Amino acid sequence: MVARIVAGRANPELAGRIAAALASPLVPVQFETFPDGELRPAVGEVRGEDVYLVQPTGPPVSENLVELLLLLDACRRAGADRVSAVVPYFGYARQDRRGTPGEAVGARMAADVITAAGADRVIVVDPHTLALEAMFGVPVEMLSAVALLAGAVRPALPEDAVVIAPDLGALKLARRFSALLGMGFGVVSKHRLSGATVRAEELVGDVAGRSVLIVDDMISTGATIEAAMSVVRAHGAEPYVTVAASHGLFVGPAAQRLQRPGLRRLVVTDSTVHREGGGLPLSTESIAGLLADAIGRLHNSQPLDGLLIPT
Ligand code: R5P
Repeated sequence: MVARIVAGRANPELAGRIAAALASPLVPVQFETFPDGELRPAVGEVRGEDVYLVQPTGPPVSENLVELLLLLDACRRAGADRVSAVVPYFGYARQDRRGTPGEAVGARMAADVITAAGADRVIVVDPHTLALEAMFGVPVEMLSAVALLAGAVRPALPEDAVVIAPDLGALKLARRFSALLGMGFGVVSKHRLSGATVRAEELVGDVAGRSVLIVDDMISTGATIEAAMSVVRAHGAEPYVTVAASHGLFVGPAAQRLQRPGLRRLVVTDSTVHREGGGLPLSTESIAGLLADAIGRLHNSQPLDGLLIPT
């Protein structure tokens, strides 16, 4: 018996690549939308199967989340033996604590509803917060695309390049890139002013006269990367910067913000379908092989050594 792949509509191309890598044809799914906007998906035959439902919850985040929930429920009711939610980009992960007493904790809410809808396991790639694991009562496999991204940027970087975290939250990520690439690292101090604006001025690390690789888990509006580029330039870095991020959402003003002569190369994965990356020096590394490898091993009850985010 093979692992069965069900594709939501958030990233059917990625699901197709995973299915092809596993030589397991996609399970047919029908989607019907009622006039009031209600969605009614129906999955094909999955009774007794080990199902992997591929649905990253990128933009539109809430719509894709609801579609994930309905598909989980459909698979469960169709008699699947086990259903794993494959959510390479996990929306709401940034809401992992309350900033003010009146806020919701979106990550926990998303974890609760995904579990309630029937996920036996969740597979994510470089989530914004590792605390996600503790928010779920079911196993969460946290895969990493860092080795893939580091391999993609390595040929274009000189040996004395510096890996820069654009904020404190990305420091561990920067250390992983720096260990893989054998380069030093530094960090920019960033303050978020709103969902789409940030302020960054200070830098810990030496970038004067050196090439810089800025790394982050995700690019949304581009504010964080834009600010980090200005800071490293102000501290004397080489004018051309490379950027690597696991998830490229490119929403709102991202394309305009990042269309700067100083951005030499921007590498992201295909975890989401890029909306506005056009015009950028963008290349995409596919995580289909990583996910297919993980799914194949989980299906055969083998360990995920070498695929997970190191602890
Ligand atoms: C936040 O801390 C994340 O790691 C990213 O830095 C952030 O979400 C990117 O968003 P934006 O591109 O809108 O600055």
